[in-house]
Amino acid sequence: MKGIILAGGAGTRLHPLTKITSKQLLPVYDRPMIYYPLQTLLDAQIREILIIVAPDRAGDFLRLLGSGKEFDAKFTYEIQDKPEGLAQAFLLGKTFIGDDNVTMILGDNIFLGNETFLLNAIRTFSQGARVFAKDVPDPERFGVVEFDAQMRARTIEEKPMRPKSNHAVTGLYIYDNSVVARVERQKPSARGELEITDLNNRYLKDNQLDVCIYDGFWLDTGTFDALLDAGIQVREHRKGLRAQ
Ligand code: TTP
Repeated sequence: MKGIILAGGAGTRLHPLTKITSKQLLPVYDRPMIYYPLQTLLDAQIREILIIVAPDRAGDFLRLLGSGKEFDAKFTYEIQDKPEGLAQAFLLGKTFIGDDNVTMILGDNIFLGNETFLLNAIRTFSQGARVFAKDVPDPERFGVVEFDAQMRARTIEEKPMRPKSNHAVTGLYIYDNSVVARVERQKPSARGELEITDLNNRYLKDNQLDVCIYDGFWLDTGTFDALLDAGIQVREHRKGLRAQ
């Protein structure tokens, strides 16, 4: 299993914080944001990691993270010239992925306090795709899963005005090796992006998407409130660990 951290994007919702640096380098309590998704991959024993970054920020990521030696891992870097969608990661990562399966995590997503869940999800993964849905108060900001009466996923809608459930698809995805060929066949959406929701719906139509319910702590840090909240939650989590 290889790993990708997608850490490009414009971060426009966090202007002016992101005018001169990447969102994923902003502090979340005592660490740069990208350390959290990185730790999630490392906890899952993923050691070969591709970090995808925006062109004008590449040097900062390299200075911060280096070769990966410090983390007992091997890092490779790729530049995304323009933020043309989450699924573009698999085109940029084609050579890196080679013949392997791949887990992708978004550079602004924080999963805390459930270190073994991804490890188990990967251990039991054989083919298709696996995503993690989380019950949230504001599903309209995300891809939202519609379930049937048996709680089987029927479809995923991207940022729906009227969400059909409260279950958002989190920024952590496991794919088999067919992901590259699938994205190569995919067309950009009306907003000009290769959508991860379209990719996941394709797997779903082929009966190959496993939607797991994730009940641990998860935050996407894309807004001012979410960023502040993330710092506070991380501090509480650390205090809890120290108290044990
Ligand atoms: P978003 O939060 O959807 O986009 P953004 O980070 O550019 O922020 P904003 O909407 O405020 O402009 O992206 C989620 C994550 O995916 C984030 O870590 C950035 C990353 N990303 C890329 O690396 N490349 C892309 O093409 C896109 C769309 C996102």
